[in-house]
Amino acid sequence: MIKITATGFYAPDKILTNADLEKMVDTTDEWIITRTGIKERRIASEDQATSDLCLEAARRTLQNGNFETKDIDLIIVATSTPDTLFPSTACWVQQGLEADHVAAFDISAGCTGFLYGMIVAEGLILNGIARRILLVGGELLTKITNWQDRSTCVLFGDAAGAVVLEESKDDSGMLSQYWRADGSLGNLLILPAGGTRMPASAQTVADKLHCLHMKGNEVFKHAVKRMGEAAVEALRKAGLKKEDVRWLIPHQANTRIIEATGKRVHLPPEKVYVNIQRYGNVSVASIPISLHELREDGKLKKGDIVLMDAFGAGFTWAAVVYRW
Ligand code: UT7
Repeated sequence: MIKITATGFYAPDKILTNADLEKMVDTTDEWIITRTGIKERRIASEDQATSDLCLEAARRTLQNGNFETKDIDLIIVATSTPDTLFPSTACWVQQGLEADHVAAFDISAGCTGFLYGMIVAEGLILNGIARRILLVGGELLTKITNWQDRSTCVLFGDAAGAVVLEESKDDSGMLSQYWRADGSLGNLLILPAGGTRMPASAQTVADKLHCLHMKGNEVFKHAVKRMGEAAVEALRKAGLKKEDVRWLIPHQANTRIIEATGKRVHLPPEKVYVNIQRYGNVSVASIPISLHELREDGKLKKGDIVLMDAFGAGFTWAAVVYRW
C-alpha cells in the first residue's frame, strides 16, 4: 500500500471576484453562485507559467514533509495546461528543483489527472520502480480562457497542489482505486487548436481555438453520472460501506455536481469537503488543495476513510479510497 507523507499547495495572490466578472461579461454574482457555488478565483500573473505554480507547490510540500529534493526519485505533474507541448511541465519543475537524480513526466487526464497520478504512482512504488514520488497537480487555466465567453470564463482559476507518496509502513494509505476513460465524448470539453489535429495558424488564433471550449450542460450530466459510478465502485473494491466514509473529497467543478455525488453515496453534506467558493474550478489542483486544507485544519484524523473522486476532459473519471 502507498501513503501520502506530505501535502502542500500554492495559489496566486491575485483574486478575481464575481463582481469583477460582472464588469467584464454579461453575468451576475447571483447567477455564478447559484449555478456553480464560486465566489472568487485566483489568477496567475502574466509572467507565471504552470511550472511556476507547480514549483512553488512542490517546494512547500517538500518543506511541510521535512523532505529535501534528494529524497524524491520521480516527479509526476498532472496538467492540461503545460508550459510547452514539450518538454513536459514535470521537466521544467525538475529543473526548478535542481533535482538531478530523478525521472520526470506529465500526465494528461483533464481534471482527473491527480487521481490518475496517484494510481500510476501506486504501481511504480509497489513494483519497486520508484521509492518516493512527488506528485503535483497544477493548472493555469486562465491563460487558455476565452474572456468573452461568459459560459466558461466565470468557472476557472489557477493553482497547484502536491503530495509526496511512498510505501506505507502501517495500516494507513490507498485502499482501492477505480479509473475509466471515454474518448468518444472528448469534443464536449476541449482545447481544439495548437496540436497536430488543428495546428496553430492566424485563423485558429482569430477564432479563439486555443481557448477552452465546453458544452457545460452536457459535461454536467456525465460528471454527475461518472463521479457517482467511480465513488460506488472504489468503495466496493475497498470492501467498505458509505457509513465508513469520513470525508468525500470531490473534484471541485460545481457545487451542484458535488452535492449530487454526495447524495449518490448517501453522505450528509458535513462529510463532503467544499472549497470551490474560494478557488473556482482549479482542475487537477482541487483534490490536493482540499487534502492539505483538511489536514492543516486538523479535520483529518488517523484512521479516517477518505473518498477522492474526479471527472474531467477526455472524458476521464476516477476515485480512490484512502485510510488516513
Ligand atoms: O472540471 C470538470 C469538467 N467540468 C465540469 O464538470 C463543468 C460542468 N458544467 C457545469 O458546471 C455547468 O453546466 C455550468 C456551470 C458550466 C453551466 O450551468 P448550467 O446550469 O448547465 O447552465 P447552461 O449552460 O444550461 O445555461 C443556462 C443559461 C443559458 O441561458 P438561456 O439559453 O437559458 O437563456 C446561458 O446562456 O445560463 C446562461 N449563462 C449565463 N448567464 C449568466 C451561461 N453562463 C452564464 C453566466 N452568467 N456566466
